[in-house]
Formats: sequence, structure tokens, C-alpha cells
Amino acid sequence: MRSHYCGEINAEFIDQTVELCGWVNRRRDHGGVIFIDLRDRSGLVQVVYDPDIEDVFATAEQVRNEFVLRIKGRVRARPEGTTNPELSTGEIEILGKQLEILNRAETPPFQLDDEDTSEELRLRYRYVDLRRPVMQERMILRSQVTRLLRNYLDDHGFLDIETPMLTKATPEGARDYLVPSRVHPGKFFALPQSPQLFKQLLMMSGMDRYYQIVRCFRDEDLRADRQPEFTQLDIEMSFLDEEQIMNLVEAMIRGLFRDALGVELPDPFPRMSYHEAIRRFGSDRPDLRCSLELVDVADLLQEIDFKVFAGPARDPNGRVAALRLPQGSKLSRKDIDEYTKFVGIYGARGLAYIKVNELGNGVNGLQSPILKFLPDEAVMEIMRRTGAQDGDLVFFGADKAHVVNEALGALRVKLAQDLELMSDSWQPLWVVDFPMFEWDEANNRWHALHHPFTAPKTEHIDQLESDPGACLSRAYDMVLNGSEIGGGSIRIHQEAVQKRVFKLLGIEEQEARDKFGFLLDALKYGCPPHGGLAFGLDRLVMLMAGAHSIREVMAFPKTQTASCPLTSAPSDVERKQLQELHVKVRIPEQRNASPEKN
Ligand code: AMO
Ligand code: AMP
Repeated sequence: MRSHYCGEINAEFIDQTVELCGWVNRRRDHGGVIFIDLRDRSGLVQVVYDPDIEDVFATAEQVRNEFVLRIKGRVRARPEGTTNPELSTGEIEILGKQLEILNRAETPPFQLDDEDTSEELRLRYRYVDLRRPVMQERMILRSQVTRLLRNYLDDHGFLDIETPMLTKATPEGARDYLVPSRVHPGKFFALPQSPQLFKQLLMMSGMDRYYQIVRCFRDEDLRADRQPEFTQLDIEMSFLDEEQIMNLVEAMIRGLFRDALGVELPDPFPRMSYHEAIRRFGSDRPDLRCSLELVDVADLLQEIDFKVFAGPARDPNGRVAALRLPQGSKLSRKDIDEYTKFVGIYGARGLAYIKVNELGNGVNGLQSPILKFLPDEAVMEIMRRTGAQDGDLVFFGADKAHVVNEALGALRVKLAQDLELMSDSWQPLWVVDFPMFEWDEANNRWHALHHPFTAPKTEHIDQLESDPGACLSRAYDMVLNGSEIGGGSIRIHQEAVQKRVFKLLGIEEQEARDKFGFLLDALKYGCPPHGGLAFGLDRLVMLMAGAHSIREVMAFPKTQTASCPLTSAPSDVERKQLQELHVKVRIPEQRNASPEKN
């Protein structure tokens, strides 16, 4: 139906006749001349209709926004002074000779160029929303990213192998989406939270190198970077150690950024231990674009009377940390109240601070409601440790360590964003040396920090039972600008070690057999040493596109409350279907979305 795409037409086409198809981006009636901006995936081009071809002009008069047209015309240079340097086609226009309305459109539910359209409306009419050039660019980028990743993996001997969607629960730590079985009354499939166990089985099957761009399903509280169904680039390989795996995928990501964005990422990526990341940044996915750091001060405050600080300072699970904000003393009372509210989202019960007016005057040069509770020497030592200067402000967090880490970890990024302290750069890193286990106080048991198939460091295998908290794992996460874009590990490949880890995690023998019997069996029949990782493709593309939510780089995402305004899914089903599926009770429960944390 067409000879070219709209965005291709430039000055080289002058005097040629072209045929184009597309949507009406805008129609302008300039008293006797009609201008139509015709849009397709490649861009916009201006088509002009003069009244001298009467019937064509009459058709042009009927045209409205979002009508679908087929046009034929001659390319000519735009008159002097009317060129548009913003458009690839801005030097030319097409003198329309024919015009066919392929389809009419009702007035769209929102203006395509209206930045304030609600997300609900955009998702409900996603097919209109996706016509917007910015959305088309994102989808094109996403397609380019998957193509480049596939090419790299293909060149490195990886096989693309599919794994089941109707399967058994996989333990990635979220709730499962379940699918009732009609054939087996009362039994359920689970949609995979990841292909973890299948990819390990593929290594045991001798496939050597596997990858898959695969949908994963997790019923968890949603945030800007979490969706109930999302896509992983899932990778597994045999006979390589963590060093080799990290190098291989690091080179892949470097190549991706070079080819897709023309960006040169550092070589090699810096590495940081989990403990260092938590200590300095309060987070295992530190955003290194922001240079603010947490500084421990508990040792200075254990003996004081001020309980807010002394309590956590004495608690082995507590933390008291300071965060210096250069030039922060200009923050108003109201600003500080806002930040106090902000850290409250993370469970912090307050946000103490000291304003640094004139250090030369000792504590008299400081200003804070808590100064009267703190010994002068401690305060001056805090100033020294944080490197505070005149004009700065020092914030404090005191609580259980995880609360302080989350609160100040998020605050440092928020402050950097608000006060424009974020460097405009790409900051990838590997976080390594993760603990194997984390103590789950609420449930009084150990919990796997990565997943239960992650191998302990060889030198720590002996202390699995005697000191689980001190065991480090062979896991690694790739972090980019504060986002965990990928994570993986070397896996346990010996049945005995796998059984010990299950036991430590409180998975009893029978439960281990019921849930993972097939894996334990497979480990007996010749399992190679293996490992891998998975990238969150949506997060990766979100960062590359400069978007603020993974919903912006998914064609048909769910809302914050895990529903689809376009199709109205999830929806009611007929009683008969439920009966066939042996589903007897339905409890219509109102699920509350948790507030968006990041
Ligand atoms: P993990 O659970 O860390 O590891 O997931 C890998 C990556 O997937 C992305 N991700 C998500 N993206 C969007 N929405 C979600 N709900 C979501 N959850 C996770 C993150 C994360 O880094 N099987 C292991 C990998 C392995 O060990 O090889 C796994 O799934 O970017
Ligand atoms: P209060 O004695 O509760 O009025 O608190 C005095 C100051 O300490 C206020 O600025 C509070 O915001 C701050 N504060 C209270 N609890 C904490 C906490 N857990 N961590 C940091 N600062 C706190």
C-alpha cells in the first residue's frame, strides 16, 4: 500500500512521487490550504492539499485526528522560513495528489501530546497511547535490546531453550500465581517465578549454555520497578566459575550499551561486598551517582542518656548512622519535616539533625534540638567523621539496623535528586560476597538471601551448621544506577550440600522431597558444576530509555493494583467454569496496594 515510511522522506526525495500510509497526527486548515501531519512508526511528514484538485481537497476537509490515511504526492522543498529542524522530514513537504481514508477515528480519549494524561486512561486505551512517538521509541529500543542480547549469546554458544509455564512452585520468595487443574481435581499448577530449576536441569542435561527471554510471574506488592508478570533474560552455564560468568555477562552489557546507546561503560565494573554496600550506602543496590554516605557513630553514643540514640547504639541488631548533606543547613524546618515524613515510609520514627553553622566555634557553632542530649566530644567526633563543613547539615538514623539502612539509604538518593547532587552518568557495579542466610526474626528461622540453590563459598561449607550467619555465598548482583538489574550465583551441584542447605532453611526432609524431589534426584545422576544469572529485562530497558517505571517499557503492563484496565482482567468467570475446575469457594477480597516506595 505504500512506497516508503513517513519518517524516511527527506530532501533527497525532492520531485519524487511517494505513497505513504499512517495516522493523522494533526490537521490544520490554513484558509484554503490544508496541512496534514501524517504519522507512522518512523516519524512525521507534512502533507499539503491545495484546493485545485477539488475532490481530493474535499476529502482532506473531512479528515480528523487519528484517521488512517493512504496518500500519494510529490515531494518538494518547504518554502524558505517554514522548515522545521526538529523533524527528520522538516526540510520537505509532500504536495498531496491523492488521498484515501482507510479508516475514520472517533475523537481519541486523550490528546497524544498531552503529558498529563492519567496512567489509568493511558492503559485503558493503550493502543492509542502506544502510538505516541515516545512509546514507539521505547518499544523499538526494547526490540533492539533483545536482538543485541540474543546476538551476543548466540555468538557465545548459548542455546535458546523454552521451559514450562504450567509448572510447580519455584521459591523466589514471592507468592505464586496458581492455575487450577481441571483434570486433577484439587491440584494446581504454579506459573513460574523464574525458570531457576529447569535451567539447572538443562545443565544436568548437558546443554552446557542456555538462555531464554522468558516471562516470570510473582504475586508481590507492586512498585515502579516491579510487575506481576515481567521478563527475564535468563542465563545458565556449566563448568565456569563466578569470575568467568561475571566477565562474560559484563562484556555483554558493555556491548549492549555501546551498540544501542553509544555509551561506554567502565571496564571492568567496580565490585563491592554486600557488607560494604550496606555500611556505606544502606543498600545492597547502591546508587553510585550519589556520593552521600552513611557513617557509623554508635560507638560514640552508647553511654549517653538520650534513649533514642543509646538504645540502638547498644543493641547488637541496632544501628546509629549519620548522613552528611553538604550545604544542607539551608533546608527549612518544613523541608526537614518533609524528609522526616519520607523516612517514615521506611519505618523510621524520626530524623534527628544538626545544622553546621560555624565549626570554628565548636558546639556553639552548631544548631539542633538534640544537642542538649549529646556530649560535646561525641558531637565534635561526629563532625570529624562525617567530614562536615560550615553550611552542612548532618542527619541521623537510630533504630534496628535494617530500618536505618532502608531509611537513610533511600534518603541519600532522595536528597541527591531533590538538590541535584546526582551525577549524570552510568554507574554499574557488581555486589558480591552476599551472606548465604539472613535471620528472619518474625518467623524465627534462617532465610536464603538469594535462593536455596545458591552455593556457599567453598571455604565456608564446613561452617554451614556451626555458624550459618557467617557463611558467604557465591552469589553476585549487577546494579546500575541504584537498580538491581540482574542477579545470580554458582549453584549447589552436590546432593549432600543441597540437603544440608534445605535443612538449615527449615525445609524438612519430607517437604524437600515433595517440593524439590526431582532436583535432588537429578543431582544424583551426574550434575556438572554450573551457575548463571537472570537480568530483569524490563528494568534494564527502563534505565536505558530513561523512563521512570517499567510500565513505560512494557506494551501492556498491569496497574499498581495488578489489573489491566484495557481488558478488565482479572475478571469474573462463569460458575460452570469454576465447577469444571473444582474451585468451590470464591472470596472477593479487596486487595490494598502498598504505597510506591521507589
Ligand atoms: P531474581 O529474583 O533476583 O533472580 O530476579 C532476577 C532479576 O529479575 C528482575 N525482577 C523483576 N523485574 C520486574 N518485576 C518484578 N516483580 C521482578 N522481580 C525480579 C530484577 C532481578 O535482578 N532465578 C534467579 C536468577 C538466578 O539465580 O539465575 C532469579 O530469578 O531485575
Ligand atoms: P524526640 O525526643 O522524640 O522529640 O526526638 C528528638 C529528635 O530526634 C527529633 O528531631 C526526632 O526527629 C529525632 N528522632 C527520634 N527518633 C529517631 C530515630 N529513631 N532516629 C533518628 N532520629 C530520631
